[in-house]
Amino acid sequence: MATVAVVGSQWGDEGKGKVIDYLAARAEVVVRAQGGNNAGHTVVIGGKKYALQLVPSGVLTPGTVNLIGNGVVFDPAGFFAEIERFEADGVDTGSVFVSDRAHLVLPYHKELDRLIEESKGAQSLGTTKKGIGPCYTDKTARVGLRTCDMLRPDAFRGKLAARIDAANETIEKLYGGAPMDKAAMLEEYLAYAERLAPRIKDTGVMLSEAIRAGKKVLFEGAQGTMLDLDGGTYPYVTSSHPVAGGFAVGSGVGPTAIGEIIGIVKAYTTRVGAGPFVTELSDATGDLIRERGHEFGTVTGRPRRCGWFDGVVVRYSVRLNGTTGIALMLLDVLDAFDEIALCTHYSYQGEKIEHFPADLDILSACEPVYRKLKGWKRDITGCTTYESLPEEAKAYIAAVEEISGAPVKIVSVGPDRAQTIVREEILQ
Ligand code: GDP
Ligand code: IMO
Ligand code: MG
Repeated sequence: MATVAVVGSQWGDEGKGKVIDYLAARAEVVVRAQGGNNAGHTVVIGGKKYALQLVPSGVLTPGTVNLIGNGVVFDPAGFFAEIERFEADGVDTGSVFVSDRAHLVLPYHKELDRLIEESKGAQSLGTTKKGIGPCYTDKTARVGLRTCDMLRPDAFRGKLAARIDAANETIEKLYGGAPMDKAAMLEEYLAYAERLAPRIKDTGVMLSEAIRAGKKVLFEGAQGTMLDLDGGTYPYVTSSHPVAGGFAVGSGVGPTAIGEIIGIVKAYTTRVGAGPFVTELSDATGDLIRERGHEFGTVTGRPRRCGWFDGVVVRYSVRLNGTTGIALMLLDVLDAFDEIALCTHYSYQGEKIEHFPADLDILSACEPVYRKLKGWKRDITGCTTYESLPEEAKAYIAAVEEISGAPVKIVSVGPDRAQTIVREEILQ
């Protein structure tokens, strides 16, 4: 089938943007199905860096149709700021459309995100404060506003006014915050409604027609499996479903529409925000990974927590997503190490744990059990074929395959489009 999903296999920031960009060059349609502008996908083309948050990464490939699906929470202010950045760079954004069923992230969602985080004190989740959780909360509470509401301005004004009143009550009474300016918000968002109208479409119909016509389609995942609301390290998760199953629900097609499922795996592990992380390295090795991998958040600039490859996480992710192939990213970051460790399983009170536990108290008490491999200690950023990689790097790739249970189809040795080794062509 001419469709492929790109899914984060760890805690996000695995390098999805780069693989999506690589595949977008041959895709005709790129679709986002979950999350919002909490995502930060970096694409480097010919040395120039682009940061994408809400706009699908296919926008950088002329001729691609880019769809923001119904499962995405859509922030009009963030969207237009991003669109303006692209246009200033000479990137055509005329092919970007948003589902008429996508829920709107409004300023009170961001304010509530901030207040809720603050009220949690030491138990805060470390969210991106983009209003993601409060927006999905309104969606599931069945009180949210959708982009289709914007198409009828008078009705939208009334609905938005009522939601601002309700949010202000929560902000003031529950969190002691200052109420938001209703008149200013109405004016601003009615203007966005007019500007957005030509881009609001039934993207599910566009997508299914493209698939029926045999077009090449790429489902662009945001976040990662361990941040999934059901499968992740709950409650230290995001509020969407960043797993392959979520892409069907969030794009308006059935699961059989997704052919290949590429799990994006960092050659080590990172996490931003709070929550247990078994292979975390709070020492000089962790610092060296952070420094070499430039592990600072695209959205918030926060330093990312770093650690060795966690095979329990990636094996779990292969199962939850039905991963058919892995793209192993940032392998070059490991160029500097004499010895590289991969966690094969955990040890909990002397017991061998091979499957990711649900209970975070148990997870926090798990110790990583490592297989240690010899490092290659060579610059691999210029390698363009699998054969040219050092034997030690090939052994590392083979260990990732064995531990996770999926074949490595792509190896990435640098941020640029050109620094990509393809072992098996995808979306031909
Ligand atoms: P995403 O959220 O999964 O798209 O990942 P991010 O863009 O947030 O973070 C990945 C970072 O790694 C970005 O800065 C990329 O430019 C960079 N990157 C991607 N692949 C490679 C690679 O193979 N090697 C190196 N050194 N950097 C890479
Ligand atoms: P990409 O697509 C890494 C994390 C936040 C926080 C948790 C909840 O770039 O991989 P939220 O704002 O979603 O309510 O925050 O999820 N998080 C991410 N971490 N990469 C992301 O996206 C993330 N999006 C959210 O740091 O721990
Ligand atoms: Mg990111």
